[in-house]
Parts: sequence; C-alpha cells; structure tokens
Amino acid sequence: MKVLICASAADAIARAARQVVATIAAKPGAALGLATGATFAPVYAALVAAHRAGEVSFARVASFNLDEYVGLPAAHPQSYRSEMRRMLFDHVDIDPARAHLPDGNAADPDAEAARYDRAIAAAGGIDLQLLGLGVNGHIGFNEPSSSLGSRTRTKDLAPPTIAANRRFFPAGEEPPRQSITMGVATIMEARDILLLATGAAKAAALRATVEGPVTAFCPASALQFHPRVTVLCDEAAASGLALMDYYRGIDHGD
Ligand code: F6R
Repeated sequence: MKVLICASAADAIARAARQVVATIAAKPGAALGLATGATFAPVYAALVAAHRAGEVSFARVASFNLDEYVGLPAAHPQSYRSEMRRMLFDHVDIDPARAHLPDGNAADPDAEAARYDRAIAAAGGIDLQLLGLGVNGHIGFNEPSSSLGSRTRTKDLAPPTIAANRRFFPAGEEPPRQSITMGVATIMEARDILLLATGAAKAAALRATVEGPVTAFCPASALQFHPRVTVLCDEAAASGLALMDYYRGIDHGD
C-alpha cells in the first residue's frame, strides 16, 4: 500500500480528484468505481469544478457505484442514486446509461447482485475504484465479518452503520437496514484502488486497515493483498499509524 499523509483534508481531497482526472486523461473510456458518503462529496465537487474548467470529460466514462440501499425508491433523496446525481452526475457530461448503481428495488436482489458483477465484467473491469472507510473498517457495505471472498450481494447493515445513517433521514423515518454492495472480492478485482480517509474518527479503522492483521473483522484490511492501493489521508486519520515516518519518506508527490 502506498500511504500518503496529506497536510490537510483539503489536500487529500484535491489529490484524490487529481488521481481521477489523471485516470480519465490516460483512458477516456475508463470504468470508475464510485463511493458515496461525506468523505467523497468534496472530491466530486472538485471533479465538477475540473469539468467546468474544461480539464476533464466524463463523456466516455462508465461508472459503477459500490452500493445502494435495498427498498428505498430510486427517487428518494437519500438513495445513493439521488446522492450521486446531486454530487456528480447532474453536473458533468457522463452518459446516464453508463452511470450504474445496483437496483435496490429489484424484485430478486440476489439476481440483481449477480447481474451487477456481470455488468462490471462486461465493461472490462474497474480501472480505478474509489473507497471510503467505515469507522468499523467496512468498505462498500462489507461490514465486519464479511467474507473477504464475497461478490456483490445483499448485506444487512451493522448497527453502527444504521446509527450513522440516521442523521440523513427525517425524524420518524427509519433508515434502511439492507444494501446491495459490491463484495470484497469484487472490489479487489479493480486495477487501481484509492482509499480516502479523513478525520480523527477514521484513525483506528485506518490503522487496522494498513497495519493490522488481514481479517474479516476489518474488511478493508483485505486491501493489503492488492498490489496497487493508494491510501490518501489527513494527519488526523493518520494519527494512529505506527510507521508514519516511513510513509512520509516514500511520498514523492503525484
Ligand atoms: C459508501 C460506502 C461506505 C462509505 C463509508 C465512509 O458508498 O460504500 O463504505 O464510503 O461508510 O462513509 P463517510 O465517507 O460518510 O464517512
């Protein structure tokens, strides 16, 4: 893993956006794996700005989001499709037909999950997978104890994840308890992976991811087996890392 400790969250965000722009510059028809959530919202804002400045076009890009809630109408403001439209899709030139999320309302969620894995393969696999990090070490919605060999499937959300999501739903409306998420093995097939973690709340999970044993108890630790992972973090998220000086020494810029 290439662990890059940035001076600030803003630096980590700008660097993540630059890696996405560089990926598309090298391969205009790249397939991107996308994450929702607070960590990536400013990355998408930077990509929208780069698009408006004429620095990047998504016209030939395909995208595959990591996950979607089960049972939430696609048009619900908290569905991940709605979130992606607000953050990115509605503001860039991506072809909506190539902007994929699992269908959380599919009559047969298991068949939908299998179809999603096939769609990723049919697109030639993912060139750059963006990952946020759960405070419990999840990637996508692969909660602790998820099989490290898992494929896209339905997954019950862990109680801390449901609690963290509650703030996005109006009082009286229960947040979803299930998702369709890319599996750990699906994620591991991406050619490049960019994990972005900012803020002190991610420090323990980041340490377990980078320096802990590989264990299903921290699904992100499976990334230790991937040959091309960049971890971008700020000082707060890096604060639990033991080899901080080494990571600083290997950072030679973009
Ligand atoms: C979102 C996803 C999750 C988040 C993670 C971090 O599509 O798959 O794994 O990336 O929960 O969320 P934030 O960025 O909100 O802290």
